[in-house]
Amino acid sequence: MKKVLVTGANGYIARHMVLSLLDQGCKVIGLDNGVNSKNPDMFFGPLAAEYVHGDIGDLACLENIFYRHPDIDSVIHFAGRIYVSESLEKPDFYYQANTIAAFQFFNFVLHRGVRNIVFSSSAGVYGEAKTLPIPENHPREPINPYGRSKLATEWILEDMAALFPDLSVTMLRYFNVAGADMQGRTGQSSPKAHHLIEVACEAALGLRDGMALFGTDYNTQDGTCVRDYIHVNDLVNAHLSALKYNAMTNEKGARAMNCGYGQGYSNLEIINTVKKISGQDFKVREEARRKGDPAALVAANDMIMTALDWRPQYNDIETIVSSAFEWKKRQCDQSR
Ligand SMILES: NC(=O)c1ccc[n+]([C@@H]2O[C@H](COP(=O)([O-])OP(=O)(O)OC[C@H]3O[C@@H](n4cnc5c(N)ncnc54)[C@H](O)[C@@H]3O)[C@@H](O)[C@H]2O)c1
Repeated sequence: MKKVLVTGANGYIARHMVLSLLDQGCKVIGLDNGVNSKNPDMFFGPLAAEYVHGDIGDLACLENIFYRHPDIDSVIHFAGRIYVSESLEKPDFYYQANTIAAFQFFNFVLHRGVRNIVFSSSAGVYGEAKTLPIPENHPREPINPYGRSKLATEWILEDMAALFPDLSVTMLRYFNVAGADMQGRTGQSSPKAHHLIEVACEAALGLRDGMALFGTDYNTQDGTCVRDYIHVNDLVNAHLSALKYNAMTNEKGARAMNCGYGQGYSNLEIINTVKKISGQDFKVREEARRKGDPAALVAANDMIMTALDWRPQYNDIETIVSSAFEWKKRQCDQSR
């Protein structure tokens, strides 16, 4: 049985990960500083996972965790700041959390003997796509501080893998993660979430007065940005496979793998899918492009399919949108 330290554990994706690890019979210690998450008791209270409130860069906090759990053998590192637009306004926050604290965290766990690491990287490390779909060896030329702070951490892990030759680390480059747990146990709950599907679901539920559509003049099929949406349960399964792969492979070191379906949907297509699933025709205001948004990001996923034998189960945009909408609607009904 594995003992896994999950950082950013109270966040959107990590909550799905914690449930999945517990389903597999793993022991889980979750660490989160609450910068983008709600009351942990609502989620962790009923679970057999331990929750620690703390920052990944707080060495005293990490000392305490490893004092009590010296047998932690794996780490899944989700913690970080995640909003591209915010990263343009506050790049210092992004380098601090995503790069500097991440280095302190990895340096600490490596010196405590952890050799199995999965890191949440991002398609944001690629910048503007020179080819579509984007393969892992595409140039890494991020166009915003968020992407650069993630790329710097990829470099850190690549260099640390040279220092610790028995380290096995998989850097999963997520494309757009969406949807909610197919068993309805959790979903997007971050207070500041403003991903497209989340915002469109809120507009459909009347929680906001319509929504903005940023940029209608991109060089794409309908002029709006194109993204590759991956269901959060499929993404989490990729992490389970990556943990196994890290442990089994003879080829130690750092490797990067895209996590996406290889299928792009435009912002307009997504909005229309939310309208269809919800049965609500909410207002959409066309606004100027946002800074830092590449036109199209679609994953080449051959590597993860081959190396991890990963097979998506929920590769259907209506399944993704309806799981997100149902979760949001239930939360909304409960708060009334
Ligand atoms: N959601 C996506 O579509 C997407 C795409 C690409 C990459 N990612 C990456 O996946 C990871 C998880 O994303 P998410 O969507 O679940 O975001 P999220 O904001 O819901 O979760 C991140 C969690 O990390 C915590 N956190 C932030 N800084 C911390 C720190 N210094 N110490 C401890 N905890 C800290 C936050 O409180 C939050 O609960 C992030 O690293 C993000 O960059 C997400």
